[in-house]
Amino acid sequence: MSKNTITIINNRDGKTYEFNILDATVGPSVVDISSFYKETGMFTYDEGYTSTASCQSKITYIDGDAGQLMYRGYDISFMAKEKSFLDTAYLLIYGELPSQDELTDFKLEMQKRSFVHEGIKKLFDSFPDGAHPMAILSAGVSALATFYFKHLEITTAAEYQEMANRIVAKIPTLAAFSYRYSNGLPIIYPDLNKGFTENFLNMLRAYPHEYVELKDVEIKALDTIFTLHADHEQNASTTAVRNLASTMAHPYAAISAGIGALWGRSHGGANESVIRQLEMIGSVDRVDEFIGKAKDKDDPFRLMGFGHRVYKNFDPRATILKEIRNELMEELGISSELVEVANKIEQIALSDEYFVSRGLYPNIDFYSGLILQALKIPKEMFAVVFVIGRTPGWIAQWSELRQQKSIKIARPRQLYVGSSERTPNT
Ligand code: ACO
Repeated sequence: MSKNTITIINNRDGKTYEFNILDATVGPSVVDISSFYKETGMFTYDEGYTSTASCQSKITYIDGDAGQLMYRGYDISFMAKEKSFLDTAYLLIYGELPSQDELTDFKLEMQKRSFVHEGIKKLFDSFPDGAHPMAILSAGVSALATFYFKHLEITTAAEYQEMANRIVAKIPTLAAFSYRYSNGLPIIYPDLNKGFTENFLNMLRAYPHEYVELKDVEIKALDTIFTLHADHEQNASTTAVRNLASTMAHPYAAISAGIGALWGRSHGGANESVIRQLEMIGSVDRVDEFIGKAKDKDDPFRLMGFGHRVYKNFDPRATILKEIRNELMEELGISSELVEVANKIEQIALSDEYFVSRGLYPNIDFYSGLILQALKIPKEMFAVVFVIGRTPGWIAQWSELRQQKSIKIARPRQLYVGSSERTPNT
């Protein structure tokens, strides 16, 4: 029996089976069960994939107990504090941090490619007022396949590079257009003199012939939000992107599927729910009542922005955003009842036995919602902002899978619990 194997005994018939253990660079090893069905005649069962590694990846590492997150080996705190979102996007997509020259070229490339085909406007024009920007954005990304069909089949490194740059550069424009069309507002074209993040905020907030002054602290806050959302290993939307990649679907279809998955309120929709919940609570004197509801097992109410599937001690992204939120509120001079409600909830939850014993700490969404609101970004755009941040991660994950030597289509099995064969009535 080798030390690098695990032995499983089937107590029904006494048969033993050995499976290889594969070691990670850091973090938990995995048991290779790819031959499990062939050898045992059984499937493994893990609803929600709580114990399942679905792929091998070199992109992002999370240690949920230590509250650690790394992109390509660089700690998230270094990336958020010392580097920009474009450094992060470059790192995720190309595997290394850019040199000064590479970063300059990448910025120019982003500016040059930020315009979208004018035909997109006709498509967006057909959506009714009030349509959710996530729905418009998802349609817009799918439609890129009709305008830039050269990337439907990608084989060379240069094609991967062009596709990645094109999508990262165009997403903020599509995102801002989604909001403007959904509200019947005139669109603002990309400004070649502005950086990536400033350009997006400008396309969202400006009006024709009106100068909008964006403060550095606002641009930095949003840029950090993008960086903190850029990748998070095999979360639900990334898994959707990888599943599509495994069918050999093109990147536009895969990213559009990622957007769909991210929209759910248990995932990218959570920060919008945080603000809605704070508004519903409304005043500091009602906080205790809602903390009570969150702790009541007979009440389905949950405190939005608390808890995480992976981080059980703290969410390192939340720690960084808390600092950014405080700095932003101070510089912009914002103090509102909503912020006070949030502060009181945070204070109670960090000391209350119910939350502490279950590892329910404020997650990234608890702080990002308040920051986005301070940046005058409407609630329905919160998940869209998440999409802009996550796009480089999705592309890096799509490319990593597609450049593997052999690709297995994602095709899980099931524990069938329906009826056995029935005799039809004749
Ligand atoms: N409020 C109150 N109780 C909670 C909360 C909460 N927000 N989250 C979990 N719990 C309780 C559960 O009732 C359960 O209690 P029990 O052990 O007495 O039955 C225990 O904590 C464990 O909860 P699970 O649902 O098993 O934890 P899981 O890891 O599956 O869920 C999740 C994680 C979905 C994030 C959950 O904590 C939640 O719903 N949080 C609120 C929504 C949210 O903020 N989502 C954003 C996640 S971050 C992101 O996607 C970027």
